[in-house]
Amino acid sequence: MSQTVHVSPSPNHSEQLQLTNGVPGQVSAFPRFRYMGSKYRLLEWIHSTLESLQFSSAVDAFCGSGAVSYLLKSMGASVIANDSLSFPSVLATALIENDNQKIDADELDLLLSSKARKSSEKFIQKTFSGIFYTPEDLEFLDNVWSGIRAFDCKFRSSLAISALLRSAVKRQPRGQFTVAGDPERYKDGRRDLQLSLKEHFIEQIQIYNSAVFTNQYSNKAISGDATEVPKGADLVYLDPPYVPRSDDNCYVKRYHFLEGLSCYWEGKEILADSKVKKIAKPFTPFSYRRTADEAFANLFRHFSDSTLVLSYSSNAYPDLKTLVSGMKKYKKSVDVVTREHRYHFGTHKNANRNEVTEYLIIGH
Ligand SMILES: C[S@@+](CC[C@H](N)C(=O)[O-])C[C@H]1O[C@@H](n2cnc3c(N)ncnc32)[C@H](O)[C@@H]1O
Repeated sequence: MSQTVHVSPSPNHSEQLQLTNGVPGQVSAFPRFRYMGSKYRLLEWIHSTLESLQFSSAVDAFCGSGAVSYLLKSMGASVIANDSLSFPSVLATALIENDNQKIDADELDLLLSSKARKSSEKFIQKTFSGIFYTPEDLEFLDNVWSGIRAFDCKFRSSLAISALLRSAVKRQPRGQFTVAGDPERYKDGRRDLQLSLKEHFIEQIQIYNSAVFTNQYSNKAISGDATEVPKGADLVYLDPPYVPRSDDNCYVKRYHFLEGLSCYWEGKEILADSKVKKIAKPFTPFSYRRTADEAFANLFRHFSDSTLVLSYSSNAYPDLKTLVSGMKKYKKSVDVVTREHRYHFGTHKNANRNEVTEYLIIGH
């Protein structure tokens, strides 16, 4: 039986950036996604550099949460958003490639009344019982996924999956999936922990619907290694992961649940000895000292015909001097713009606050 859905007004205003200085107003509709290394809070600064460059096509080669792709699309460029993980490309399909498809009230009703029947459709309940969410939350995820399978439009299914992904992050105390413990254990009054996944999902569908827009150009979301992204864009924005200093920076370790949820774990192998049911970590040369220098050289060579804009920070390896001289091999001139930035990652007593200088290294 179909249920009528009443969507309450978005509680999201406090999360929105106050954007000024000519940043396209559309950017404030971007649903901020809690993600390690996200440049969301730096968008205004990044925009101030990008607006001085001439481009009508752009690549965001390590798109992550998609915040910079969304900025580039809002600036009127034809964008390719890429990431080696699959869930960033689902997020980018929903908001970068998608121009106008939205989930209407009937489709939301359908998703909310779907039921997982076959055993193969109850994978999440069977696999993650007692790990991250309540039994009702897990059943909800399986049920919605059985509804998503019936969608025949990749844009509307990616919107629904994006709404699920953001709901899943919000209902996790630290926004990541490294430690077991369902949200009911945390009684610190945060609204995001009090809402069920279903309540979050209803809100997130509305938030994602309102973020869909067209910039009149063709945009694309893809998933693969950065050096396999088609060449030829006027501008390429590069934001690779940093080689870790002490704590490791593995994206799959933190976000394996989102990576699996984005494709219902199809083709993903869960590690047998993992308490939190992690999936295998893909290799990226940017995460190791022994391979990072060569990885940057390959990246600069691959995109040598484009204007390059590389995000980097003072606590990362290789250092600024090495990166500038590496880029100079392929570009006539290289400029560096700096800005102090404080990363807030984690919450309250678990917070990890790092003061760093952020760089934009621009190769013309
Ligand atoms: C610092 S994050 C990007 C953050 C993004 N700019 C944002 O604002 O959310 C780095 C991203 O690079 C991706 N990545 C790692 N190795 C990659 C590779 N070889 N090719 C493409 N993407 C890669 C990671 O999955 C991660 O999403």
